[in-house]
Amino acid sequence: MSTAIYPGSFDPVTSGHLDVIERARQVFGKVIVSVAPNERKETLFTTDERVEMLREVCRGFSNVEVDSFSGLLVNYALTNKATVIVRGLRAVSDFELELQMAQMNRCLTPDINTVFLMTTTEHSFLSSSIVKEVARLGGSVTGMVPPVVETYLERKFKLEPKSKQRAAGGISG
Ligand code: PNS
Repeated sequence: MSTAIYPGSFDPVTSGHLDVIERARQVFGKVIVSVAPNERKETLFTTDERVEMLREVCRGFSNVEVDSFSGLLVNYALTNKATVIVRGLRAVSDFELELQMAQMNRCLTPDINTVFLMTTTEHSFLSSSIVKEVARLGGSVTGMVPPVVETYLERKFKLEPKSKQRAAGGISG
């Protein structure tokens, strides 16, 4: 049974990430979705919040575990006896950085392979950053993130929950 790690910032998890998780869990025996405290940029959500959201979203998936890690990804993969790193690819623009990371990881640990899964075209424009920007400015991100994430975003940006807005006649549908 092969174990794959799907690492990322997941700040927050989007419908695009969820699509990759669903595909990965069909291909690998076990998938560990693991949150990295991002070294390169500040995050909106704490590591614990990002893990909580992912746990909620992956609740029904028997072969998916949610965790967090710090330090080198390849060391974390070795500790968890994972032989594969899964990454999602949306567009050509993702490729350069992904290639660099995959090659660095292979250089560090040749036995671990990076496997890329293509995100569905429906979600190919989605990123955590664009979702946060839209949510911060009060736009709807329904369908772009799992419902639990919408609630976390509303709370973070102190927006009225959709149910309240609807009751006040603010939104329809
Ligand atoms: O969702 P992101 O921000 O694109 O994920 C990037 C991530 C967390 C996968 C990457 O930054 C990572 O692997 N960080 C762990 C540190 C590490 O191992 N760096 C060297 C290899 S790239």
